[in-house]
Amino acid sequence: MLRSALLNVMIKAAQKAGRALKRDFGEVEHLQVSLKGPANFVTAADHRAEEILCAELSAARPGYGFLGEEGGRREGTDRTHTWIVDPLDGTSNFMHGIPHFAISIGLEREGAIVAGLVYNPINDELFTAERGKGAFLNNQRLRVAARKRLADAVIACGLPHIGRGDLDLSNRELAAVQPKVAGLRRFGAAALDLAWVAAGRFDGFWERALSPWDVAAGLILVREAGGFVTDLEEADAPWISGDVVAGNEVMHRELVRVLNAAAKA
Ligand code: IPD
Ligand code: CA
Ligand code: CA
Repeated sequence: MLRSALLNVMIKAAQKAGRALKRDFGEVEHLQVSLKGPANFVTAADHRAEEILCAELSAARPGYGFLGEEGGRREGTDRTHTWIVDPLDGTSNFMHGIPHFAISIGLEREGAIVAGLVYNPINDELFTAERGKGAFLNNQRLRVAARKRLADAVIACGLPHIGRGDLDLSNRELAAVQPKVAGLRRFGAAALDLAWVAAGRFDGFWERALSPWDVAAGLILVREAGGFVTDLEEADAPWISGDVVAGNEVMHRELVRVLNAAAKA
């Protein structure tokens, strides 16, 4: 498969950081038995991965800005391009030895996401998309699932946890969605949730209060796979509001309707 120079740059960076994360993930398994657990080690692994990504991406595209979860914003001389990067999405999975986490890289050009990559270094699944050029899992073209009824759908979501999120609202949303769907999942890595919607594994996904680095890459993956991603007001820059709903046209519309009704209830 012939890939663009831009995607090759993103893939090279993700694979290098992915090798480091995979090595560190092996260490985490040993640290589970210590009383303090692997928290400090994981924070260091997270930072190391971001530094690798920043160094690789900046070397290949000098001047582009860089917005990373760990290091914040680093302005570039080129004000039109910004990398939006989560070096480790699914930190609690990583910390608990659960092999479901990813590197997420989005490229913003003048306010629009034009390329995205989500890479799980454990199973080597590499999701990529460029605006107008389709979405891929490794070499295979992706399409969102075609199911048209919530009753047939497996939907992924995020859930509040200690210190985060609106539990009352989340409970109302769950009460509204659960009885309408074939299955609900909470896998703990939003970038992979979106990539899996693009791959047709999940029929839909919603989560509130996400950050730009959770969403930027997954957003273009879903759209290039023929799906819809917006916030709950159906604005098309959900990485700004942080509330995200994704799915094929029907699933997306149904989820927006059900979730808005639950929020007003
Ligand atoms: C988190 C994951 C999780 C989502 C959280 C995110 P992190 O990212 O994507 O699935 O529910 O809202 O913060 O902290 O693992 O990079
Ligand atoms: Ca994240
Ligand atoms: Ca992260």
